Amino acid sequence: MSSAGDLQEIERQAVAAIAAAATPDDIEAARVAHTGRKSPLAEALAGIGSLPPEQRGEVGKAGNTARKAIESALEERTTAIQAQALASRLDEERVDITLPGDRRDVGALHPIMQVRREIEDIFLGMGYAIADGPEVETDHHNFTALNTPEGHPARSMSDTLYIEGGHKTALRPQTSPVQVRAMEAQEPPIYLIAPGTVYRRDDVDATHSPMFHQLEGLAIDEGLGMADLIGTLQHFITEFFGESLESRIQPHFFPFTEPSIEVHVRWTDKRGRATWLELLGAGVVDPNVIEGAGYDSERWTGFAFGLGLDRIAMVRHGVPDLRLMYESDLRFLGQFS
Ligand code: DAH
Repeated sequence: MSSAGDLQEIERQAVAAIAAAATPDDIEAARVAHTGRKSPLAEALAGIGSLPPEQRGEVGKAGNTARKAIESALEERTTAIQAQALASRLDEERVDITLPGDRRDVGALHPIMQVRREIEDIFLGMGYAIADGPEVETDHHNFTALNTPEGHPARSMSDTLYIEGGHKTALRPQTSPVQVRAMEAQEPPIYLIAPGTVYRRDDVDATHSPMFHQLEGLAIDEGLGMADLIGTLQHFITEFFGESLESRIQPHFFPFTEPSIEVHVRWTDKRGRATWLELLGAGVVDPNVIEGAGYDSERWTGFAFGLGLDRIAMVRHGVPDLRLMYESDLRFLGQFS
């Protein structure tokens, strides 16, 4: 049977154990051990009923005191442990917003692709569509259908990278075969541009690379001629380079256009010297090319042009060496992002 002293001892031990609890698990274990059904306290309280009546009052009072003391110790300790847990979580999860952070490099379009997109925008604005064609191209599309007969210098091994020894297929040396593919695939009128990669067996120097980029243009309609070509190119040059850029037109030769022209722009190089720079080749589409596509060349006429995207990117940014464009050196490319 318990005495008031026993209950004081139970209280003392329980309060000490609760005070020693350090974690939410500890406090839960202490709660079960010291207030649960099998706890010394519960057993002592249960035994009060069987005490002689004159002892019940004193022991009952001591029991009550012990119960209240244990419960308030539990409550206090629980609050303290929760506060501590919250404080340490806040501490662990604290973000120091003054730290520099993990920087991720953000990608950007290559300068040649930037130029390509800008030019595409200008021609899309004039109602042109964007066409695409294969980079491994047939002899027919590369040359024959473009009025380039056998024996023409453009067909010689020195320029063109042929596939598998024969002359039937080659890496396209120009984007002009896309003109032929477009005409074969659809009826006029046609207004298209065809940007893409081209290949030539050029020596690698500051202005040549065996792979480079062109943007082809083709317009076929009723009544199109040289004046439309020049107006279109003038609009393009003004949009792309601005009003102030001086340009000139010179006669030239291309097999697939007659007459043919070359457009030059006045450019001040990095050393401050003004020079004429070849920007593009163009002309009125040769009737042979139009007839070859199965169109009536009396009714349908048009113009075509081809410009070098790499050259334009170099000019725009004052890049002295084309090879920089292909070395993937982020110190160079990062300047255009
Ligand atoms: N294909 C020519 C070249 O690679 C460029 C060119 C000139 C394209 C005149 C044309 C054109 O469409 O009409 O040098």
